[in-house]
Amino acid sequence: MERIANLSLSVCVAGIILSSCGSGSQPEAGQKAAGVSLPAEIKAMMPKGEEIFKTKCIICHQPNGTGVEFIFPPLANSDYLLADKSRAVAQTLNGSKIEMTVNGKKYTQEMTPQVNTKEDAVAVINYVLNNFGNKGGFITLEEVKSIEIKPRSETDQLR
Ligand code: HEC
Repeated sequence: MERIANLSLSVCVAGIILSSCGSGSQPEAGQKAAGVSLPAEIKAMMPKGEEIFKTKCIICHQPNGTGVEFIFPPLANSDYLLADKSRAVAQTLNGSKIEMTVNGKKYTQEMTPQVNTKEDAVAVINYVLNNFGNKGGFITLEEVKSIEIKPRSETDQLR
């Protein structure tokens, strides 16, 4: 018995390294991702990500990430976000003022820069990726090291 448990544990550890721990693993407490275990480094930033989401993003993207059709795009099951996590981090950091199609609907409103550090942007995007029905996954600080933080203009209201 114990042997089997040990074996599945090491499979799980290998799974974490490959970032795809199998469906047999138990979701961690407080972690709503569908059976996907996250590296400790990512788990550790979740409370910060949650706090940022609840203080900064909720007003537009809504408490459950659904957004407001044609005005504020969804973060829940957003094909656009899931297609490029590092773009999502960059947009959270530097804002976005483009026409985008998210889940088949066009959005043209501007989002001003929302956070000032990559740590904050990565934390909130990891929180989003593991909540609101999103299937999990994560992005590391290492993966966004080439993103440039653009100078915040004086007109940014949401610093
Ligand atoms: C004042 C409203 C507002 C706030 C606050 C806001 N956003 Fe946005 N967000 C928008 C709008 C509008 C767009 C579309 C921008 C465009 O068309 O270029 C957008 C787009 C996005 C996108 C890309 C589109 C998508 O749905 O995947 C991401 C990712 C995103 N926001 C994340 C965040 C995060 C994370 C926060 C909080 C830290 C946040 N936003 C706060 C209005 C807002």
